[in-house]
Amino acid sequence: MKIIKVTDAVEGGLKAYEILAEKMDDGIKTLGLATGSTPIEFYKHLTASDLDFTDMTSINLDEYVGLPKDNDQSYDYFMKEHLFDKKPFKKNYLPDGLAADLDAEADHYNQIIDQNPIDLQILGIGSNGHIGFNEPGASFEGTTSLVDLTDQTIADNARFFVHENEVPRQALSMGIASIMQSKAIILMAYGKNKANAVTAMVHGPLTENLPASILQSHPEVYVIVDEGAASKL
Ligand code: GLP
Repeated sequence: MKIIKVTDAVEGGLKAYEILAEKMDDGIKTLGLATGSTPIEFYKHLTASDLDFTDMTSINLDEYVGLPKDNDQSYDYFMKEHLFDKKPFKKNYLPDGLAADLDAEADHYNQIIDQNPIDLQILGIGSNGHIGFNEPGASFEGTTSLVDLTDQTIADNARFFVHENEVPRQALSMGIASIMQSKAIILMAYGKNKANAVTAMVHGPLTENLPASILQSHPEVYVIVDEGAASKL
């Protein structure tokens, strides 16, 4: 793991942008993307740049179950607002959280990932160490599946909703095995509330109780952290 310390999310987003730009020079074709507050500054750098994504395919990590695409908390809406409406891609994939058969949708999404091997995966981290929506206890061997969100994640994400009871209880999430197949990974974390998760990810044992700890065994991971998130390293 390469730890990159930055002053704030703006500088962190710039570092991530620079790594991406270098890899685009090398011809990467598929980008794994994340939502949440963490990558917003990174997406601002992308949309302000002259990078051309018209030959790039994107594959998002996850989507809530049950939110219509025009709900401003759906990840589909988030991605259009922060990136896709400003930068056209060859193709954008997100899991369909409204699919009638969610298990079949998970299988379908796994086929999409198999057909489009991810060159660079962008990640945030939950305060409980989750990546995507792979909550503590998720199998390191897992592929895309229907997952139940933990009370911690529901509470963490309630800030984006009017009431906590509006936060969906389930999501479709790319699995940890699929994330690990990405050739390179950038994980960004900002703020003190991520410090425990970041420390366990970098220094703790590899355990399914802290999903991000598996990243220690990946050959090319960039961990971009501000002072708060790095405060217990
Ligand atoms: C969300 C997403 C993750 C994200 C994490 C942190 O629930 N599923 O992909 O990394 O939680 O969110 P934030 O960046 O807002 O702290």
